[in-house]
Amino acid sequence: MDQRAHNTIEQTSSHGELLSHDDVLGSTLSQAERITSGLLDKVEEAITHYPVSKRSAALPLLHLWQNHFGFIDESGVEWIAAKLDLNSISILELITFYPWFRQKAPGKTIIRVCRTLSCALAGSYEIHEKFCKSTGIDPTCEGHHGIPTSPDAKFSVEFVECLASCGSAPVCLVNKDLVERVSLQDVEDIIKKNS
Ligand code: FES
Repeated sequence: MDQRAHNTIEQTSSHGELLSHDDVLGSTLSQAERITSGLLDKVEEAITHYPVSKRSAALPLLHLWQNHFGFIDESGVEWIAAKLDLNSISILELITFYPWFRQKAPGKTIIRVCRTLSCALAGSYEIHEKFCKSTGIDPTCEGHHGIPTSPDAKFSVEFVECLASCGSAPVCLVNKDLVERVSLQDVEDIIKKNS
């Protein structure tokens, strides 16, 4: 894997400030009770991009929230709705419509395996199965807008659609790192490196 192209790409939003995994899981406070001034500044700035109707800021705010906390809890839904003068259901329906958004904490390392045609033909289903078996993940245990996660909370594994690297299939994202031409041996190496 070391000799191969190993690129870094940004996730959907580049507004960073993701908490550590311990912070994500270790607090008994709700997310709304832990909002930081940094996140607040980004929220306020995002809203300014929608002077006609601030409800249009809902998706950007959801991305900011998930990037910060790792997922969106009930308090986050209510907080964002209140911020945009919306009912909570208007935010909840966005979260439940778009698979990217999560309502449960993911594992420390999130592995996204491409299952679109080029990668599927190149063995991505076997790669996904190997990731799940090697980390103890039951791929069918996905909760409502959660992501299948290992019992030790170290890994989450999910399928995604085309990662725009079809020529080097099969590919996967390991957190923000794009890994190309993934082999079954690479799966073992990735798990060992992130355990
Ligand atoms: S099909 Fe997998 S990256 Fe395009």
